Amino acid sequence: MRKNVAQFSRIGFILSAAGAAVGLGNIWKFPYMTGVYGGGAFVMVYLITILLIGVSLLVAEMYIGKIGQADAVSNFENEAPKAKRAWAKAGYIIFIGLIIMTFYSVVIGWIFYYLYVALTGLPTNLQDAQNIFNTLYASSPWLQITFHTLSTAIVAAILFGGIKNGIEKFNLLLMPTLIVILLGLMVYAMQFEGFSKALAFMFAPDFSKLNSEAIIRAVGHSFFTLSIGIGSIMAYAAALPKETNIFRAGLWVAFLDTFIALIAGIVIFSFLFQFGGEPAKGPGLVFMSLPIIFAKLGTVGTVIALLFFLGMAFAGLTSAISLVEPAVMYLEDRYEWSKKKAVIFNSLLYYVVGILVVFSTTDGFKEYLMIGKKSLFDALEFAVDSFLMPLGGILIALFVGYALSKERVAKELVPEMGEKIFAVWYFSIRYIAPFAVLFLAYNSLTS
Ligand code: TRP
Repeated sequence: MRKNVAQFSRIGFILSAAGAAVGLGNIWKFPYMTGVYGGGAFVMVYLITILLIGVSLLVAEMYIGKIGQADAVSNFENEAPKAKRAWAKAGYIIFIGLIIMTFYSVVIGWIFYYLYVALTGLPTNLQDAQNIFNTLYASSPWLQITFHTLSTAIVAAILFGGIKNGIEKFNLLLMPTLIVILLGLMVYAMQFEGFSKALAFMFAPDFSKLNSEAIIRAVGHSFFTLSIGIGSIMAYAAALPKETNIFRAGLWVAFLDTFIALIAGIVIFSFLFQFGGEPAKGPGLVFMSLPIIFAKLGTVGTVIALLFFLGMAFAGLTSAISLVEPAVMYLEDRYEWSKKKAVIFNSLLYYVVGILVVFSTTDGFKEYLMIGKKSLFDALEFAVDSFLMPLGGILIALFVGYALSKERVAKELVPEMGEKIFAVWYFSIRYIAPFAVLFLAYNSLTS
């Protein structure tokens, strides 16, 4: 069990949980997927899923952390009713975070590299932009490893500080900065004609563009973006003062996450529509299309590029720490490891596999690092999106909805939500969330 652990302040918790949720998913993935899947209708499905299912799961995961007050493995073990001891194993979902980190840290490294590109000269045409990205991705393993090392070191340094002096401090500083940067960029973009086109693109749904793939991707992304299903939010909630209203905190986190994704989308599409870029560019949107536009704006563009990539790096780092902390907490709690030892051990685990991930996309090595037809990079990302995260989400929903007694859950949450909202939430956790997640996993595994 945990001894004398430091606790979050209320605002520290909300910003840290929002820091976990707001990540590359918001600034990189959400805008490019909105572009690829046609705008408004995709955004609408994403918003509806967050509201109907995402928030319910988020609150359920927070609830397990709050009643357990310990690492995820201990929470499932201690809180499961005696007859349902098989649940004890569910806590191992925490190791999914380390798997995510094997590629997440590499991508954070790319952002560091783009800060350097912004300083030394942005590409002025598509050819150059593609060259810069492809050279990094396909033929510069050592450069990528250097930045992956830097990202690993920063994340470890923050985790050494623990909940209070590491995670909370860092989020209290970076999250408001990120919001200010994005709002500043949006205010700047408001002078563009592209701004209103961006709003129309994102908020006027064109349902003819909504195919089943777009729906599945929107549902999947709404889980990924809220950081549900791997014990991150649970770990933070375990360090909450007992009297915190987790329902309200959950609403705040979901609101901030959605708000930041929408602002990032508006900023990116305003620039794109103003200066003539293709919205449906896919994953290269922020790494290829945007830099060319920034280059057109001269010195102002350099400043904007630096701010943009800095914000993106902040978003990535605050999520990264939440991906590693659950495993750190586990080793500290259960094996009485020192924080230092737990952080170094977990960091090394993902760091080493991350090096293989880098080589899996670079010329001369990639042939040796394939899993089936996919590179190790793509295979890990696929496993996380379509199997591991849904698994974590289902376990959380089933645990709260079926393993624990309704009386017990209600006793804690009715005072927070009121009878009516509790009834809706409980229905969602029992009957909607598990099946929606199952549907999602089934579809992405078979497509
Ligand atoms: N939500 C983060 C993003 O949008 C990624 C992330 C952080 C995450 N922690 C997680 C995803 C836990 C799933 C589970 O980039």
